[in-house]
Amino acid sequence: MSVPMNNEGPGFVALPPVPEGAVMVTLKIRRFNPEDPGKAGWASFEVPCLPTDRLLNLLTYVKGYLDGTLTFRRSCAHGVCGSDAMVINGVNRLACKVLMRDMLNKDGKNTTVTIAPLKGLPVEKDLVVDMEPFFSAYRQIKPFLMTSGQEPTRERIQSQADRARYDDTTKCILCACCTESCPVYWADGSYFGPAAIVNAHRFIFDSRDEGAGERMDILNGIDGIWRCRTTFNCTDACPRGIKVTQAITEVKRALLFNRKAVVR
Ligand code: SF4
Ligand code: SF4
Ligand code: FES
Repeated sequence: MSVPMNNEGPGFVALPPVPEGAVMVTLKIRRFNPEDPGKAGWASFEVPCLPTDRLLNLLTYVKGYLDGTLTFRRSCAHGVCGSDAMVINGVNRLACKVLMRDMLNKDGKNTTVTIAPLKGLPVEKDLVVDMEPFFSAYRQIKPFLMTSGQEPTRERIQSQADRARYDDTTKCILCACCTESCPVYWADGSYFGPAAIVNAHRFIFDSRDEGAGERMDILNGIDGIWRCRTTFNCTDACPRGIKVTQAITEVKRALLFNRKAVVR
């Protein structure tokens, strides 16, 4: 399926002038419409691109000028909300963090970028997947501060050293790039996946939290942390640079050796 520039026929939308310095890029996008599943396949779009564009700008151009039915999620456009994770040239990435300067062919030949929905979650439409299995695993590890006793009248104070203990895992934006790059999760979606474990780590190593034992019991279960094969796909995929596999290893070690040290 090849989609021409929308410069004639019904649904005509006037294209904006191509900016100076732009080159044409081909976006090859995986399409799926639940109302017409037989037509699932790849569609190609020619899009003007500046080196300073993010891939999200190009997708927005397609939706605005070439095919308004193209469906994808996005919100912040600044790598913060985690909603535009997709498979870009075979790698799980956020479209808003892909700088086109890094994607353009250096030899001046036409650049093609392939874009597909995250693997491992049901596709709802085009690049939008059903995130419920991902968030279900996240909810299971109880991603909130668990305490007992009376509510303090001021904030719960913590030393800088205690805060630093779990700083890396606070950066998670729940984009699912890690979990949907995990071969164990692909093989059997009942595994919690790395993102859930990262968020368990964030609370297990928080000195103010009292739910570490409960969370570790959950992760110790049959679909839990021992299914991880330490292949590092998750760390490579994380757009926030979180040391995902290291966090998983720290939780494994806590389960094996120093459970008492973190169970408060
Ligand atoms: S390190 Fe573990 S969680 Fe991460 S991708 Fe590999 S198997 Fe999955
Ligand atoms: S750990 Fe990284 S890749 Fe995984 S959900 Fe969080 S931000 Fe996304
Ligand atoms: S749109 Fe929010 S992370 Fe990309």
